Amino acid sequence: MTLIAPSILSADFAHLGQEIKKVSKAGADWIHIDVMDGHFVPNLTIGPCVVQDIRSYSALPFDVHLMITNPQDYIQAFAKAGADYITVHIEADTDIEKTLSLIKKEGKKAGLSVKPDTNISRLIPFIPFIDLILIMSVEPGFGGQSFMPTALEKIVTVKELTKRKNIFISVDGGINQLTAPACQLAGADILVAGSYIFKNASYQKAIQTLKEGK
Ligand code: DX5
Ligand code: ZN
Repeated sequence: MTLIAPSILSADFAHLGQEIKKVSKAGADWIHIDVMDGHFVPNLTIGPCVVQDIRSYSALPFDVHLMITNPQDYIQAFAKAGADYITVHIEADTDIEKTLSLIKKEGKKAGLSVKPDTNISRLIPFIPFIDLILIMSVEPGFGGQSFMPTALEKIVTVKELTKRKNIFISVDGGINQLTAPACQLAGADILVAGSYIFKNASYQKAIQTLKEGK
């Protein structure tokens, strides 16, 4: 079954701990945390101290999505703060292999993400070093954008590339009751959803709808 990772970017930040508790109780599988630095993407969100403070509100894996330049400088801090998966962008102008090995050195799972315009073939050299591939189905930076259908063929290609390997395929951006089934059909293992879940009156219903793919 597909795992659902609510993105707390669309949660009420004034009550972040309670929001995480609520969504964990509602059937979430992972908690997706979007970290933005105002450089790699034109938005600012949260840092390691917030991750540390919300850690005790859920026992679910923390899936930390770093949309930042120089991710290598922050791996240790996010690992110490309680991240379980740390995902960096292949477009971050840095030594990707070294950054992935830093994540592993901290005993964490390593993810690699691609923006909508990035060719999937760039992932190939890093496949032996990763546990997760995060396919962006919107331009990273903001919640509430529309799903880009080009992500579907990327999911299919990545599925083929990672066959028989233990790598999760996750898709992030514009996931709702209409786009989730297509992503599942294409082969996604994890659906990241922000506004669809947090803007829904019932988090449980929203998560259930995404899981069932209908
Ligand atoms: C965007 C973030 C997403 C975002 C998704 O850069 O990576 O995780 O929260 O939000 P929705 O589900 O509203 O598109
Ligand atoms: Zn994200």
